[in-house]
Amino acid sequence: MERYAIKGGNPLVGEVEIGGAKNAALGVLAAAIMTDEMTIVENLPDVRDINVLLQAMESIGVMVYRTDRHTVRINASMISGLVIEDDYIKKIRASYYLLGALLGKYKHAEVALPGGCNIGSRKIDLHIKGFKALGAQVKIEHGLIIADAKQLKGAHIYLDTVSVGATINIMLAAVLAEGKTIIENAAKEPHVVDVANFLNSMGANIKGAGTDVVRINGVKKLHASNYSIIPDQIEAGTFMFGAAITKGDVTVKNVIPKHLESITAKLIEMGCQIEESDDAVRVTASKRLENTHVKTLPYPGFPTDMQPQITVALGIAEGTSIVTESIFDNRFKYVDELVKMGANIKVEGGNTAVIEGVERLTSANLSAPDLRAGAALVLACLAAEGLSTVEDIKYIERGYEDFEVKLQSLGAIIEKIDSDKELTKFKLKVG
Ligand code: UD1
Repeated sequence: MERYAIKGGNPLVGEVEIGGAKNAALGVLAAAIMTDEMTIVENLPDVRDINVLLQAMESIGVMVYRTDRHTVRINASMISGLVIEDDYIKKIRASYYLLGALLGKYKHAEVALPGGCNIGSRKIDLHIKGFKALGAQVKIEHGLIIADAKQLKGAHIYLDTVSVGATINIMLAAVLAEGKTIIENAAKEPHVVDVANFLNSMGANIKGAGTDVVRINGVKKLHASNYSIIPDQIEAGTFMFGAAITKGDVTVKNVIPKHLESITAKLIEMGCQIEESDDAVRVTASKRLENTHVKTLPYPGFPTDMQPQITVALGIAEGTSIVTESIFDNRFKYVDELVKMGANIKVEGGNTAVIEGVERLTSANLSAPDLRAGAALVLACLAAEGLSTVEDIKYIERGYEDFEVKLQSLGAIIEKIDSDKELTKFKLKVG
């Protein structure tokens, strides 16, 4: 099984190009099937979650032409089925966007109950509440969510919890509904705005995306569009924390600095230097990091998807820090792996990590429990002296394109290996 072999101790130095946002792309691709005209989506990250969603789309008759690694042309005029099978959903949670998209376009959809990263209980009750409010009947049978409507009618929907997935899914179903839909307490994440912008470029009428009230005036039909996905806030944040954790100097390029504000604010508090330009952010860390406290929150708060990365950084910072996870229930499982490296972190009540910073981490053989924690463990290994390995990198590959290649270009000693023989070779090479 593939794993990363890492020799730590080198600071990350240089420039790295950030790809398109995975979580925006998942919503945009689902939206693309809502027209029978050809859409072109650019700046698509070449990562497993995206490729699986494209396969799920092909499985119901959507024609997907990959014109280059980051561009697809999509023609959904010949959709022949409205059932998304279990296999696809098990691999990625966001296939559930096909529920909103198919329900909106055909007034019927059957999608298996979602899986995805195991980071706590991840409900879909709000998605279902939204579809029902729009007039659909929704039932769960044989592991499938079945949504059906004679017609969808605009409605006033209040989300009890701020949910990215529910906001996007309801938006998808509502754009072709009759009349006006209002989503209150909507998620404001950049990817919600990106999906709304894409839908508007196809002729939808959505206002207020990026605020907590989204207003949608239903239209009859959507048309072709050519759209480029926004840069990935979390990939950028991961490399920025990579600079901090390894006492490096990294410029993330092709980013929207505004989307990174909560991340840069924390890095500044921790003693890093930040330089921003129009589409790049440079992070320099020249001394030991300082402690801070952080609570994950919906955008524009500190993202839960950056929680493991900041925990690793605080694990080697001076003093005591507290990280509070307020979005998901069970997102500190990776802490056991950090403890193997000598970190002094105690998880209290499941959602709070109390961190006594240690001077250094030691190398270890680790396993990635999920996508973001997997990436954070790789950063920890890059900071630790000696040779480490990280298994289960399939999780990391769900959301990071060429992760090890980009890290290598910043001076990291990391290789993807497939056998013990290759590990021995790596050890001989790096000494
Ligand atoms: C999305 C992101 C994920 C990120 C998360 C929070 C995608 C594909 N994934 O996940 O990377 O970590 O946002 O920024 O974009 N909830 C309910 N009922 C629902 C839906 C959600 O109670 O029907 C709760 C969840 O349990 C969680 C909170 O709402 O506590 C936020 O979840 P949500 O924003 O929906 O996360 P996802 O869309 O699954």
